[in-house]
Amino acid sequence: MSSARPTVYVTRRLPEPAMRLLAETCLVSLWDEVERPVPRDKFLRGVASAEGLLSLLTERVDAEVLAAAPRLRVVANMAVGYDNIDVAACTARGVLVTNTPDVLTETTADLAWALMLAAARRIVEGQRMIEAGAWGPWHPLQMVGVDVYGATLGVVGAGRIGGAVLRRGRGFAMRLLYHNRHPAPALEAATGAVYRPFEDLLRESDFVVVTAPLTPATRGMLGAREFALMRDTAVFVNVARGPLVREDELVAALRAGRPRAAGLDVFEREPIGPEHPLLSLPNCVCVPHIGSATLTTRTRMATLAAENLVAALTGRPLLTPVNLTELAALGRGAPSWERGATDR
Ligand code: GLV
Repeated sequence: MSSARPTVYVTRRLPEPAMRLLAETCLVSLWDEVERPVPRDKFLRGVASAEGLLSLLTERVDAEVLAAAPRLRVVANMAVGYDNIDVAACTARGVLVTNTPDVLTETTADLAWALMLAAARRIVEGQRMIEAGAWGPWHPLQMVGVDVYGATLGVVGAGRIGGAVLRRGRGFAMRLLYHNRHPAPALEAATGAVYRPFEDLLRESDFVVVTAPLTPATRGMLGAREFALMRDTAVFVNVARGPLVREDELVAALRAGRPRAAGLDVFEREPIGPEHPLLSLPNCVCVPHIGSATLTTRTRMATLAAENLVAALTGRPLLTPVNLTELAALGRGAPSWERGATDR
């Protein structure tokens, strides 16, 4: 290992503990803005001499970036999802990819529940009614919603976040169902949830919550056909990735009242603006991709991404690798990386 400090490119100013950690070991080149993503041309120039890249989900890391970064050895994504990264291209180039699982699990599950409750009990619609001066005298069917307590919760995607959403359902005495590519006995043991084929879950659930990753197999998995299978009292929640849903078909389904309501943290093309048709629907609660947005969790995510980056560049065990097994199968990557491999 060379004693020179490795050069890294960081695509946004991160919370201070992460910046400090990087600066201790690396020569940091930074897109020094908090809110605005780095323009593509500056990004491509920024990675030219980088051995490590710390990226956010706003950056596409693809063949073009890899070609612009001949010295690149590791991409540390500050997100659990890594659909913004062409992992196969990274693997073929011998570039490690890491993500930030675990540290955001509970925070994101909390947000899924916030959306379930808000959509079921018409929280945003109620506030809008008051703000519009339209709150008339109390009457028996004013702003009636649907019950959460004792209802059936169906989670699509049995990863860490799906498990945490289900676990919360126990406190609400819910019947718990899940669907996943493969049955997940550990999740069943931890939550008491029962596996259902996808369409059965859609038919049986009062709340359908999507936590699956975005892959070629899951893109567009929820559209008109799937919404038509749901109950007309069902609440649909997406805290995963927007492109899992065919959004125009969701708009039509919500207009038709099946599902009855939706809570969305993610959208096909982000950010959306006030003209987006979903915002015109009283039965849709929209928030701006804030699943992991607490200061504690975002700081942990940034720090974990920084730790992964430094570990990869100093030959220390990685905390949360994505493509280590694939790299090892190709005979690429340092053995020390593998010692730290954990399946989180
Ligand atoms: C956020 O969406 C993430 O994948 O961490």
